[in-house]
Amino acid sequence: MGKIISLANQKGGVGKTTTAINLAASLAALEYKVLLADADPQANATSGMGFDLRNIKSSIYDCLIEDKHPRDVILNTEIEGLDLLPSTIDLVGAEIEMLNMPNREQVLKHVLGKVREDYDFMLIDCSPSLGLLTVNALTASDSVIIPVQCEYFALEGLGKLLNTIKIVQKRLNPDLEIEGFLLTMYDSRLRLSNQVVDEVRKHFQQMVFDTVIQRNIKLSEAPSFGKPALLYDANSKGAVNYLNLARELLQKNEKTKIPNEDKIIK
Ligand SMILES: Nc1ncnc2c1ncn2[C@@H]1O[C@H](COP(=O)(O)OP(=O)(O)O)[C@@H](O)[C@H]1O
Ligand SMILES: [Mg+2]
Repeated sequence: MGKIISLANQKGGVGKTTTAINLAASLAALEYKVLLADADPQANATSGMGFDLRNIKSSIYDCLIEDKHPRDVILNTEIEGLDLLPSTIDLVGAEIEMLNMPNREQVLKHVLGKVREDYDFMLIDCSPSLGLLTVNALTASDSVIIPVQCEYFALEGLGKLLNTIKIVQKRLNPDLEIEGFLLTMYDSRLRLSNQVVDEVRKHFQQMVFDTVIQRNIKLSEAPSFGKPALLYDANSKGAVNYLNLARELLQKNEKTKIPNEDKIIK
């Protein structure tokens, strides 16, 4: 049964989508079956995986609102073992439409439950808000990864996020864990970047992933080619960082499948 992990932080531009795409691709490269669920109306994960939003006929919206079976919506990607539950701008309406549903916080959990047996991991790319969609993602998840950008005000807003997580744990999903804080866009040449790393590690200690994601141009270029960094430039720092993150995640979760990395890096 797949482990469900949300990528959440209500701050925009911290690396949620980049992490969702590249961690999903790395886990698939290590031969796990992975579903990337795009839960952001901006649909950056969907376009970043190479899909033209104008051609998406049905999306996560139809699963949430029309009770469409996710198997009829899920798309195969260029990477073997990696599927996508796409989003479109329609999803903006979902929060309001879900308001009057019974168990409105559990809708996504119900949707993902229908295909959970098909995957080893399901990663949910959240929107930059703490609205009902993100609450749905946290309610559906076993754990949450919190990307933290190595920039000014890195810790700002984390209190609010942690409070939301606490509320979800108390009322909706007592088993929700924090998988880890992930430092992103690290630039070793900048004193500020190093200060943020120190500060976040001091604050959250062993809850911070050892793997740090460096600032890397390939990571920002890859989405415009509709590819994870691993397919765009497998030797780039960004691709390597995310493979290491996948390995660290697997180690933490004691998954011991022996990978055959040569197979995917064509
Ligand atoms: N490690 C990185 N190095 C360089 N650019 C990055 C990196 N991570 C993210 N970016 C870029 O920063 C911007 C915001 O990242 P994104 O993953 O979309 O954040 P979020 O989903 O949290 O809003 C995007 O343009 C993305 O390509
Ligand atoms: Mg995003």
